[in-house]
Amino acid sequence: MNYYIGADLGTSGLKLLLVDAKGKILNSVTKNYQVYYPNPGWSEQNPEDWWNAFVSGVGELLSGFDAKSVKGLSVAGQMHALVILDQNDEVIRPAILWNDGRTDRETEYLNTIVGKQKLSDYTANIAFAGFTAPKILWLKNNEKENFNKISKIMLPKDYIAYRLTGVHSIDYSDASGTLLLDVKNKCWSKEMLKICDVREEQLPKLYESFDYTGEVLPENAKLLGFADGVRVAAGAGDNAGAAIGTATVGEGKCNISLGTSGTIFISSEKFGVDKFNALHSFCHSDGGYHLMGCILSAASCNKWFYEEILKTDDYSGEQAGIREQNLGKNHVYFLPYLMGERSPINDTDARGLFVGMRPDTTRQDMILAVLEGVAFAFRDNLEIAKSLGVDVKVSTICGGGAKSKLWQKIIANILNIELEIPAVEEGPGLGAAMLAMVACGEYDSVLTCAKTLVLKKETIRPHAETVARYEESYQKYRKIYPAIKQLYKELI
Ligand code: XUL
Repeated sequence: MNYYIGADLGTSGLKLLLVDAKGKILNSVTKNYQVYYPNPGWSEQNPEDWWNAFVSGVGELLSGFDAKSVKGLSVAGQMHALVILDQNDEVIRPAILWNDGRTDRETEYLNTIVGKQKLSDYTANIAFAGFTAPKILWLKNNEKENFNKISKIMLPKDYIAYRLTGVHSIDYSDASGTLLLDVKNKCWSKEMLKICDVREEQLPKLYESFDYTGEVLPENAKLLGFADGVRVAAGAGDNAGAAIGTATVGEGKCNISLGTSGTIFISSEKFGVDKFNALHSFCHSDGGYHLMGCILSAASCNKWFYEEILKTDDYSGEQAGIREQNLGKNHVYFLPYLMGERSPINDTDARGLFVGMRPDTTRQDMILAVLEGVAFAFRDNLEIAKSLGVDVKVSTICGGGAKSKLWQKIIANILNIELEIPAVEEGPGLGAAMLAMVACGEYDSVLTCAKTLVLKKETIRPHAETVARYEESYQKYRKIYPAIKQLYKELI
């Protein structure tokens, strides 16, 4: 049987899946790499680390399997990061990541001087600090020498594809997050290119996610043990990839991703944008569109609290004592803004905050507050979707954090929606493998592939009394940020 490789190029590591054409996961390998924080609120990675993780990871993934049966691969990757190459194809500087907040000035310039209305007309979105366009302007304002050396601009997953095939490509879902794409018409925006001083030849060629962009170069096929002619599909931003892997395709489906970031992703067959651009309006990897809200610190809040503060990695042990009947009764609240926040508040100065501790507050109360704070931040985004007339009643959930049963219950009750748990909880990696299958002709469309391969394991239902208790807590939670907002500017 034919094999496919799906890669999820995340922030904490690269996860590779070896999948057969029936969607069975044959093997998986994770390779971690460093995130560098050279200044508060900045975050960077070395593209070479991604490539090394890919090469050594594929080696491990295929050990004991027939590497010559691999027919195709693709990558779903962390979005928005600026990767720049010079005319010799050397990486000019470390990639500036999606959760990097250094571009306040440039974001402000785009939103106020160019103006939100124009940005929305050109791209269907406004500027957020993590998007790629403000980073290009930051480079121009702060590292002119590097800016002048730029020959190619790409996003993280496209760097892997470029090293593999020599083709400078990008798919529409990931390109949407650059703020350089005219999302509605699926082409680079001439106006945005002019505003950012970018030439079209510096940008990758645009593809649908399931298009085949090139073949693995012979020297790489040799390095990885592949037969000649392995096809590489354009791939997707990690959220659009996760949407494929959870069958969030076609009209009106929802997926929640609980990884380093947290996203609510609502698929649509038609293009749409709200009047305040509160949610991102992006292309989907199924050929349609989607709306998305993104919180910058989701499962990363847990990681920080357990590993940095409590000095433990026993996540399930720490959560074990929290009973379902205690949900919605916590007196401690947590704002999860460790890296500032994107949706809906768009505030790079915001930071994490615990409120309400008393002498009888326990370790468990604080652990619960972190889980709840992230769920309340999701709820803020769901409220925006509701205000746009999008009525979410059911959602799938995926990502590392979604493995916690307790967190699943908290989210279902705070959002008051049903959560469907996919049988395979490998959203972006599985989605990437599925895109490769479509590119190789294994399935005639992403929709058919998703309907055939993605199965549901169980449904978590909200509980009326817990929902009511959490409703009261949420009404308190939502008053905290406006009350402290001004102070953040003085604290930073
Ligand atoms: C989405 C976003 C994050 C990253 C994380 O807009 O910035 O979800 O893609 O990998």
